[in-house]
Amino acid sequence: MEDFRFQNKTDIRFGKHHIDEELHDAVAQFGDKVLLTYGGGSIKKSGLYDRVIKALADLKVVELSGIAPNPKIDSVREGQKLTKEHDIDVILSVGGGSVLDASKVIASAKFYDGDAWDLVADRGAKSRANIDQLPVVDILTLSATGSEMNSGSVISNPDLNIKLGTNGPNTPAVSFLDPQLTYSVSKWQTAAGSFDVFSHLTEQYFDRATANDVTSGLIEGMMRSVIKWAPVALAEPDNYDARANLMWGATMALNGIARSGTKNGWTVHPIEHELSAYYDITHGVGLGILTPRWMKRALSTETQARFARYGREVWHLTGDDDQDVAQRAIQATYDWIKSLGIPMTLAGVDINSDDKFEEMAEEAVRIGNLDHNGGYVNLTVDDVVALYQASM
Ligand code: NZQ
Ligand code: ZN
Repeated sequence: MEDFRFQNKTDIRFGKHHIDEELHDAVAQFGDKVLLTYGGGSIKKSGLYDRVIKALADLKVVELSGIAPNPKIDSVREGQKLTKEHDIDVILSVGGGSVLDASKVIASAKFYDGDAWDLVADRGAKSRANIDQLPVVDILTLSATGSEMNSGSVISNPDLNIKLGTNGPNTPAVSFLDPQLTYSVSKWQTAAGSFDVFSHLTEQYFDRATANDVTSGLIEGMMRSVIKWAPVALAEPDNYDARANLMWGATMALNGIARSGTKNGWTVHPIEHELSAYYDITHGVGLGILTPRWMKRALSTETQARFARYGREVWHLTGDDDQDVAQRAIQATYDWIKSLGIPMTLAGVDINSDDKFEEMAEEAVRIGNLDHNGGYVNLTVDDVVALYQASM
């Protein structure tokens, strides 16, 4: 097991009864000037917007709406302007991971006078070193990213065709997680979100550290839970237990616990982020298409024992031949993703040309350091191009 430090200060308020009773004080403890951030309107349709406005009636609320999936830097710039203009004390993010990711960068950008993109381009170096950050309170409406309990944000710059992960100094101050708010999430986003969670687990499970049995076992348990509950949520959108397990699973998968003691090089995420950057596709869908192909590429005589453990512990496969169990585990992964309704090819998300694969692969390898032990197995630009091509 590798050395690690684990600290996470987010105050989690999970379940049905926290929001109406506690939202006001959770926000007001930081001041009375609030920037309310949200997306394209799902919170108005569900009635959540009205509940929030009612709860914050005695506070000064400034709104930033229209934060898009794969949040764009322009929304962050707009938020930066509003936080300065209104001398905002606290941000309340209401929505999915995209709204929350943008909100976290806005929270740092209030204290930065340059272009907000600088705080993304440097992967958060300035934000962490010497820029303050507003507290962020969030009400999460989609289970996927884990953004509600981590310090990361992923922001897109369409002018540059770049989608980049950055890390601020803090995790959200308070996160309200009410699974009922996810009942209205579409099948597409439910499948994508569930697979995003699963991918966060595979990225951390296929790892070069050895003898990290505590973390491996935790991850296997969380994987089994996503495999069990995602189809239930798809079949019965208002099944509380399914939505609750997916919501807490999403948070736990990426709050730092599943990384403890690992070497943790992520591979499929940087490769997927290029698809989202160039074609603005849904993150979890891109991961679903790429992951089984990456697994096939990563399987070798050196890695087969790990893949076989994955097959036995997660997919309940039996047999003594590691290579055989590993291959069946990859097939089981593919079949499960497909059963969620995720299109298993890039053509299924309207990517029909390989024109951009070379430049996308170069970026993925550079950003993820994929050819220098950045991931579980090293991948060259040619390897990544081959992965995109195998996914067509
Ligand atoms: O914009 P609105 O109208 O709210 O609609 C959203 C959006 O269209 C809708 N939605 C959200 N909650 C809903 C709902 N529709 C009905 N009912 C509800 N309760 O769903 C759509 C997608 O929302 P989005 O926030 O984009 O989804 P998600 O939470 O999956 O976030 C994806 C983004 O997070 C990044 C991804 O790259 C992507 O940009 N990631 C962030 C990470 C992090 N911060 O740690 C890690 C992840 O690996 C990921 O990269
Ligand atoms: Zn992800």
